Amino acid sequence: MGKKIVILNGSPRKSGNTSALVKAFSSGAESSGNSVTEFFLDGMDIHGCKGCLGGHSSRERPCVQKDDMSKIYPQVRDCDVIVLASPLYYWNLSGQLRTAIDRLFALEEGEGNLLRGHGRACALLMAAEGHGFEAVFGYYKHLAKQLQWENLGAVLAGGNGDIGDISGKPEIQKAYELGRSIG
Ligand SMILES: Cc1cc2nc3c(=O)[nH]c(=O)nc-3n(C[C@H](O)[C@H](O)[C@H](O)COP(=O)(O)O)c2cc1C
Repeated sequence: MGKKIVILNGSPRKSGNTSALVKAFSSGAESSGNSVTEFFLDGMDIHGCKGCLGGHSSRERPCVQKDDMSKIYPQVRDCDVIVLASPLYYWNLSGQLRTAIDRLFALEEGEGNLLRGHGRACALLMAAEGHGFEAVFGYYKHLAKQLQWENLGAVLAGGNGDIGDISGKPEIQKAYELGRSIG
């Protein structure tokens, strides 16, 4: 049976290199019978975590803040695979994606941690002008380990600065194959 896949796309460029990886990954994943829900975070109203520890996993809206995270929580709660997609910004994930990740903490609060474990898996899709992925890939692996998500793999596409640079490169096929391998 197909898996439920949620993609958090942290690029601000709808036709950019990260989005090209997301498109290829999604097409591969759907060809294997999975369902894919993508959130293009830059177009969403998502505020930084307030650190109030006032969330509760079992609420319909787990966080005390009422913004577009309310659309993401139920999807993440029910998903099998979480895909983090981002351009490399200062050797890290983009702020859009980091902000959303912090807000997922609300799913860990209260009775029953709905974020950690639950047989979930994850993948990483990234584009960058250079090739300095070491630090962010280390962070991603640490995050996956701490959240008990199985790492299905990463596509780290360096050498892509401008929109369209990634077109026709092997990483597009790699993203497709990674998506197709799920299910
Ligand atoms: C604010 C900002 C920071 C960036 N930092 C890096 C970086 O640390 N290393 C790098 O190789 N490229 C860096 N880049 C280049 C982007 O990662 C690159 O253009 C990428 O292809 C953008 O992906 P997108 O098309 O999905 O937006 C940066 C770009 C911006 C706008």
